[in-house]
Order: sequence, then C-alpha cells, then structure tokens
Amino acid sequence: MATDITVSEIGRHAGEPVRLKGWLYNSRTSAKRHFLEVRDGTGIVQCVMERADAPAGLFELAGRLGQESSVEVEGTVHEDARAPIGFEMRVTGLRVVAAAQEYPITPKEHGTEFLMDRRHLWIRSRRQHAALRVRAEVIRAVRDYFDGNGFTLLDAPILTPAACEGTTNLFRTDYFGEEAYLTQSGQLYMEAGAMAFGKVYCFGPTFRAEKSKTRRHLLEFWMVEPEVAYLDLAGDMDLAEDFVCFVVRRVLDRRAPELKVLERDTAPLARVEKPFPRISYDEALALLGGKGHPVQWGDDFGGDEETVIGDAFDRPVIVHRYPAAVKAFYMKRDAANPALALGMDMIAPEGYGEIIGGGQREDDLGTLERSVGEHGLPRAAFEWYLDLRRYGSVPHAGFGLGIERTVAWLCGLRHVRETIPFPRLLNRLTP
Ligand code: 4AD
Ligand code: MG
Repeated sequence: MATDITVSEIGRHAGEPVRLKGWLYNSRTSAKRHFLEVRDGTGIVQCVMERADAPAGLFELAGRLGQESSVEVEGTVHEDARAPIGFEMRVTGLRVVAAAQEYPITPKEHGTEFLMDRRHLWIRSRRQHAALRVRAEVIRAVRDYFDGNGFTLLDAPILTPAACEGTTNLFRTDYFGEEAYLTQSGQLYMEAGAMAFGKVYCFGPTFRAEKSKTRRHLLEFWMVEPEVAYLDLAGDMDLAEDFVCFVVRRVLDRRAPELKVLERDTAPLARVEKPFPRISYDEALALLGGKGHPVQWGDDFGGDEETVIGDAFDRPVIVHRYPAAVKAFYMKRDAANPALALGMDMIAPEGYGEIIGGGQREDDLGTLERSVGEHGLPRAAFEWYLDLRRYGSVPHAGFGLGIERTVAWLCGLRHVRETIPFPRLLNRLTP
C-alpha cells in the first residue's frame, strides 16, 4: 500500500511506495520514458514513467497531459544526487483528476502585464511561489518577535474617521452618510494601546491612494506597527534595529531553498548585524551632496535619494531628525532644535529604499493641538487622540515596517508587485 506524502516529506520515504497529489508542472518525453515534474504546493519532484513498466494506454495518456493537469501519482522514491531535491519518483500508477489544456503560462518568457493579468495562476510558478513563502516567513518572524518580547497584539480598525499620514492619498468611502477612510496606518490606535498595555503592535493591511507608479509603492500594503510607552527616539531605533536583525536571520535560517530559487546572493543579508549606522538628516544631506545629489535643506527624500543613501552602507541605515515641516503632525519636536522632528526612517541597502518609518510622538497636549490645526486636520476627528495627552501622557515611540518592501529586499526582487499575492496597483484591481 502506498503512503500519501507531500514532496517536502519525500526524503523520509526512500525506497518506499508512496502517493502524491498535485499538478503537472512540466514534462519532457523520450521514446522510452516520460519525465513528469509534479508540484504539490510543498515542492516539485521529477517522476519518471517507463514505457516498459506502464499499464497499457497510460504511457500515451501521460504523454498527452497538459501543463497544470491535476494528478495523483503512485510510485517508489529513489535517491538521486542529480535531482534538485535529491530524490525522484519511479511511477507505477497515475490518476488524472482533471485534465488541463493550453495553460497560458508556459516556460517561455511572458511580459509582466500578461503575467499580472494571470496572477491567480502565476503564483503557481517556482519563483513566485518562493517569494510568497519568504513573505509568509517574514510575517511569522514579525509575530514571533513581538509576541516573544512582551508586546500585546492589538488590532487596529480598517475604517477610520481620521487621516494619520496626511490627506493627499486617502481612500474615501461612504459610512452611511459620513465620510470614512481606509486606514493609512494603525499608529494612532497603537498609541492608545501603548497607554493601556505598555507595549503593543498591530499587523494588517493599510491603504494609500498613491497616484504615482513606482517600484516601491502599492495601494494596499501590509504593515506591522509596534508602539511603546516610556520609549524615546534612541530606544525606538534600538528596537527597530534588533527587530530587523531578527527577521533577516530567521529568513536566512529557514528559507534558504527559496532564496536559492530566487537566485538571491545572501552574502549582503548575512552582513545585517547590529549596530546599524545612524545618521542625522543633516548628515544625509552632506552625504547626498558629496555623491552629486544635492538636496535643499527642508526637502524630503525621494526614491533616488534613498537609493544613494542606502548604497553608502553595507547594512540598513537609520536617518533621524528630519525637518518637522516634511513629517506628519504627530511627531515630537527636537528640544535642541524645534525645526527638527524626532522621526527616523530605516533605509535598506542595495537600492530597496525606506522599509521603516517612525519616531517619538508629541506627548504635550498644547503642542499637539496646535499641530493638528497647522496641518489643517479636522479637530473633531482627533479629540479622542488628544485625550491620550489629557489623561496620563508619557513619552512614547513606535514605527511601521512595510512587509512588501522588506520582502522585496530579502528576495532581491526589484518591484514590490511580486511580494504580495494579489497586488493593488495604479490601474490594477484584477484579479
Ligand atoms: O513611513 P510611513 O508612512 O509611516 C507610517 O505610516 C507611520 N504611521 C508608522 C508608525 O510609526 N507606526 O510607512 C511606514 C512603512 C514605510 O517605511 C514603507 O516600508 C511602508 O510602510 N510603505 C509602503 N509600502 C508599500 N507601498 C506603499 N505605498 C507604502 N507606503 C509606506
Ligand atoms: Mg515614511
């Protein structure tokens, strides 16, 4: 009797009769045998069917099977050093569950739009599959890190009455006659949570109606946002650094096969260790000027500047103390220079740009009230948030890490669209 196994378990069944349930990924044929590559979601294995051994008719049937036909394969597991997974199967039986014909994604090259239109099928492909497994590992690492370090998970709402990150890229929706927005960030709610639980985090989808097409922007992306009471900017940078080291190490430890499929050079990732360089905005300006990218004091950095800054270091770099005018309303001013905000961004190396944004929050009621007004935000929608400064305000800080940019960096993928199962991009809502 054959045992039902998955491809990932095959190494434990050498010499045994087994059965796999999966799909035909690819096939080659010679006069005497078929080489059927079968995938089952956990891996891909080569199944060899000999004409001489196959029951009458089965050999011809297998030869006509289209790519992505669903199949149950029975056979014996053989160790084979030449096989990518070290094993192959010698087929003794094959049952076609559903025959597929003319699968649109063939081993030849396709354009990105063609593939994005067929994203629901494309995720079966080896590279896409590997990238999404790395994503799942990153998310697991994120949860393990915060759950293991005394943080309480606190889910933030998706429908919100107030803008957290400025009003220019809000997705608006009707809330029974009231205007509501899809959340840009759970931060404001995490600040409430930090005052209740000390250390909290949320993890969920966030939305930005970004009207520009860049390789780093999605309209819907996933963000993890820790927030901690009695934490200052320096402590926030320590936390961000420790957390990123943990996530990178975890992916290197557990997703080496996937990184190999992606042809990711892991040497730069292995260098990601504490301490990360920390430079002020002013120092970043000097660095940019020195590399022929002059930026006016007071201007924010764009993708090009982030790339130049990131390229100057062999691990992520933290830039802190930005001009307050380019940053969000909630950032605390630097007591040493009130033109500066106690904010920080972490920029990944190798051209992947900003992966973290965060900092210390304004904890003084009067200052925060003025800031809400200066940013033209509707006071009424922020009354609850101001309460946090009325009742037991303390210094506090936090940050948000974008999952897709982190996955793009770890996988070495140029564009964030391949780091999320079904990307939402400008002009793309399907599939
Ligand atoms: O820098 P951002 O806008 O910061 C915040 O939203 C803060 N409220 C977070 C906090 O302090 N709790 O966004 C944080 C991160 C960025 O560094 C980036 O990694 C990612 O979220 N991000 C995006 N990722 C993909 N597509 C977009 N359109 C993104 N916008 C931000
Ligand atoms: Mg930012």
